[in-house]
Amino acid sequence: MAKLWEGDLHSQLDSFADNFNSSIRFDSRMAQEDIRGSMAHAAMLGAQGIISARDADAIRKGLEGILADLASGALTVDPTAEDIHSFVEGELTARVGDAGKRLHTARSRNDQVALDLRMYLRTQADEIVSLTAALLKTVKDRAVEHAETIMPGYTHLQRGQPIVFGHLLMAYAMMLTRDIGRFRDARARMNRSPLGSGALAGTTYPIDRAATATALGFDGPTVNSIDGVSDRDFCLELCGAAAILMMHLSRFAEEIILWSSWEFRFVELSDAYTTGSSIMPQKKNSDMAELCRGKTGRVYGDLMALLTVMKGLPLAYNKDMQEDKEAVFDSMDTVRACLQVFEPMVRTMTVRADNMRQAAATGFINATDLADYMVKKGLPFRDAYRATGDLVALCMKRGVTLEQLPLEEYRRACPLLDEALFDEISLETCVARRLSQGGTAPESVREQAALVEEFLKDVSDIH
Ligand code: ARG
Repeated sequence: MAKLWEGDLHSQLDSFADNFNSSIRFDSRMAQEDIRGSMAHAAMLGAQGIISARDADAIRKGLEGILADLASGALTVDPTAEDIHSFVEGELTARVGDAGKRLHTARSRNDQVALDLRMYLRTQADEIVSLTAALLKTVKDRAVEHAETIMPGYTHLQRGQPIVFGHLLMAYAMMLTRDIGRFRDARARMNRSPLGSGALAGTTYPIDRAATATALGFDGPTVNSIDGVSDRDFCLELCGAAAILMMHLSRFAEEIILWSSWEFRFVELSDAYTTGSSIMPQKKNSDMAELCRGKTGRVYGDLMALLTVMKGLPLAYNKDMQEDKEAVFDSMDTVRACLQVFEPMVRTMTVRADNMRQAAATGFINATDLADYMVKKGLPFRDAYRATGDLVALCMKRGVTLEQLPLEEYRRACPLLDEALFDEISLETCVARRLSQGGTAPESVREQAALVEEFLKDVSDIH
């Protein structure tokens, strides 16, 4: 396809360089946005008397035809075009003649590509918010379902204190609420139209930037034309939000992988989200969770790639910036795919409450509660801590749990103790008592879930 800029001043490009320079492979996914942007631009040019009403009308009809033909498959994007912008303009001119050649009046590909990208990524941000909200809802539902399922809570991967599984799930729910917040913030900041910035300096034509901004659903135009064409913060913010979201998924994935192992057996993933081994028939591998964990690396990579491309770039547009698309598209595609597989994986996961309970019963995770009870009975905390430590050592020697140790042993360590201690150190009591705000008590978990329900209502009102 002939270049927009070919002529006496510039003859043909070397064919390898031509291919090297082309972005059509990855920017054709912005065809719809490019066409809609051009429609708004042409309508504005017509309304302002910059082009005739007849030309504006011919352009609109021509672009509508291209949009419809691309959708039906009657038209396919020419892979030899330089980029999607050249392709659409070339196709338009082939269809409507001279009017098509007037479309690019008072515009540059620099403001055009910045516009298309913002429009495309706006939709991506909305989709990621919806997918994250779906995962959040599932995590919250499962947390309510397991508001009383006792398991060991870990620090340093060592059994620490008893918690309920719902409380742990709600920790992930909180991360997802922040992820949604980040994507919504980025979307709000990005929703300004750069169209009309021209190549970098604005234009001498009497354009109406507010009109095109409104027509395309933006909150208004960008303020400075140089910034309008050279800003890629919106891509970076999305890649940053994506990297943090993936970090959360990778932690969740890691726990799911660990919990599914024979050593834990806390959960079992549905066959729909595990694979078998080609050689070891007993295996059920958590491939989906592992892939989400692994893909976190490439989403970090996309962020680093884009930060590095932008670093030290002089104003305004430089061709380096064409490298923005593959990074941000890959980041968005990867996050969407991970969210899509994660939600049903968590929804269909079987929770082995009995194994969790059994793991919680061993490991002396109620030792803190025993010490607290001694304190309540009047012993200073340091003494209680010491006495509890001795009792744990005794249990370990005998191979029993604190619950199984007879009362006389307790009384020998602390004469203030009585029969009631067994109820005090039961795991159910241990979790039910942790009623401090944000604690692991089942009641607290239900309160957290109610807050997330409110949050989700707000998200669906906007989307
Ligand atoms: N394909 C280019 C990009 O993605 C479009 C903008 C071209 N502008 C230019 N001055 N060459 O960045």
